[in-house]
Amino acid sequence: MKRFENKSAFITGAGGYIGGTTARMLAAEGAKVAVCDITEEACARTVREIAEAGGTALAVPADVTDSACVDAAIAKTAAAFGGLDIMVHVAGGSARQDIKPLADQNDEVILRVLGVNLLGALWASRAAARVMRDQGRGGRIVNISSIVAFNGLRGSVDYAASKGGIIAMTRALAKEMGAFGVTVNSVAPGVVVRPGTVADDSDYALKTNFLGVKCEATDIAETVLFLCSDAARFVTGQTWAVDGGRGLGMKGSDK
Ligand SMILES: NC(=O)c1ccc[n+]([C@@H]2O[C@H](COP(=O)([O-])OP(=O)(O)OC[C@H]3O[C@@H](n4cnc5c(N)ncnc54)[C@H](O)[C@@H]3O)[C@@H](O)[C@H]2O)c1
Repeated sequence: MKRFENKSAFITGAGGYIGGTTARMLAAEGAKVAVCDITEEACARTVREIAEAGGTALAVPADVTDSACVDAAIAKTAAAFGGLDIMVHVAGGSARQDIKPLADQNDEVILRVLGVNLLGALWASRAAARVMRDQGRGGRIVNISSIVAFNGLRGSVDYAASKGGIIAMTRALAKEMGAFGVTVNSVAPGVVVRPGTVADDSDYALKTNFLGVKCEATDIAETVLFLCSDAARFVTGQTWAVDGGRGLGMKGSDK
């Protein structure tokens, strides 16, 4: 029997690098996966890849900053798959080309970053919590944070606030949902190498951890899958750094 046989999963950002990898890996281990991303087109590739590999996937496009959209997507998932066992909120990211010191940053960028990363996590976690509480068979909620929440990063105060908010909400929601057999955790990646991006530069990717190897999306997804599994039934309210030790600090002095 596969690890996630008969489990229903909803993944936001599932058209992206970490979300797509997580969705494909959950499906490969038997989960029925609702692929959520901002548009139908953004969902399509992951849905197709899961189907081609023999898995079950459903596109549930939604803008995660809009709570009504998220509620509808989770309702559609639960109706199609007979409930909801796993919710992973991966959608998000930094302001990228709009990164600036907070003193120079504008409202639109700050609201955008907080909207996708933190409000998205709250909307998706709330919708999942309602279904999981009411269906009475437990569940797993995982949100993607970042080690920037622990260590800070110049130019990314909005991003740090959003990812720190995820850690705080993880702890509080874990307390609320424990009585319903629902665990709530988050995963904090360091630098994840996405092919064709700045993080793919070998030197940078290798310099930003203590293991001397590049972190790939599978490294993050493996931890997410563990937290979603029966084996992690006693782990809740935690944030797991998956960063090759980057968050330990002192990188550069190696002491
Ligand atoms: N890549 C890294 O190095 C790294 C490091 C730490 C944390 N993270 C976090 O991991 C998560 C995924 O990162 P990634 O590298 O896979 O990025 P990615 O850009 O490949 O994936 C993000 C996905 O979120 C989707 N998305 C954006 N706004 C949305 C919205 N409003 N509604 C629905 N979907 C929306 C995008 O369409 C995209 O498919 C993010 O939360 C990011 O902050 C990434």
